[in-house]
Amino acid sequence: MSDTGALHNKVALVTGGRGGVGRAVCERFEREGAIVYAADLSEGGSLESSDSTAGAFQRLDVTSEDEVIAAMDRVTTEHGRLDILVNAAGIEIEETIETTTLDQWNRIFAINVTGTFLTSKYALPLLRESAGASVVNFGSYDGYIADPQLAAYCATKGAVHALTKAMACDHGPEGIRVNAVCPGYVDTPMLQSFFQESGDIDTLQQAVRDVHPLGTYGTPTDIANLVNWLASDEARYATGQLWIIDGGLSAQVQQMKL
Ligand SMILES: NC(=O)c1ccc[n+]([C@@H]2O[C@H](COP(=O)([O-])OP(=O)(O)OC[C@H]3O[C@@H](n4cnc5c(N)ncnc54)[C@H](O)[C@@H]3O)[C@@H](O)[C@H]2O)c1
Repeated sequence: MSDTGALHNKVALVTGGRGGVGRAVCERFEREGAIVYAADLSEGGSLESSDSTAGAFQRLDVTSEDEVIAAMDRVTTEHGRLDILVNAAGIEIEETIETTTLDQWNRIFAINVTGTFLTSKYALPLLRESAGASVVNFGSYDGYIADPQLAAYCATKGAVHALTKAMACDHGPEGIRVNAVCPGYVDTPMLQSFFQESGDIDTLQQAVRDVHPLGTYGTPTDIANLVNWLASDEARYATGQLWIIDGGLSAQVQQMKL
């Protein structure tokens, strides 16, 4: 653990901390000197083959109020405060509203939206004990503009964006900053499963790269770099904002294919 890093001695809990982005966030936080809890459904998360074990593993289903309370109880016992909460747990469902079942709709809202609500709600007493608390939620550029066949996912991310602003307004006076990171395409198991839905993975991957002004999609490290800044005291004046990081994807008007 670094004793000169930007997050030296800060206590952080990252949901989805064993997933593609969450794991990169845990690794970066540890390098910056934070004490990290990687909270996820399983030790392997979405990357069963990875040997990275950044952060102390905390079993957590973000849809379970009891498990969220138990996770915060552990942090209370071990540190008595929480400086950083990252809500990175999430799932994607590739359907239109017509092909989305009610069970799928309820499940994606339970994880992406209710999960963010529950962890934030029960973290608040611990965040109030911090000298400068930061919550980083995970929205998406899909909360602004829609990808085809991601209707429920887009709706959850729009909800997270609105919740982020509401939380920032309510808890700013208590010294708690709340922001959302809104990635475009990031190379994680979530993106790979999206590619595998297509028949020709190589063609789709190249098409996705080509549509970005920067000519490629992002890496988990790209996202972790922004999360790290938002979590740090350098971002002390940044709150209530939705930070799009998408290689310029949402900046451009789609060109006509003549
Ligand atoms: N990958 C992308 O292209 C992309 C783009 C925009 C936004 N995002 C968002 O970034 C966040 C991280 O996504 P990722 O790409 O790392 O996905 P990922 O699938 O690699 O990781 C998600 C993690 O969340 C965990 N998880 C799922 N349900 C859970 C639950 N009920 N309780 C606790 N943990 C649970 C999974 O086990 C997994 O480890 C998500 O909110 C996602 O919507 C990703």
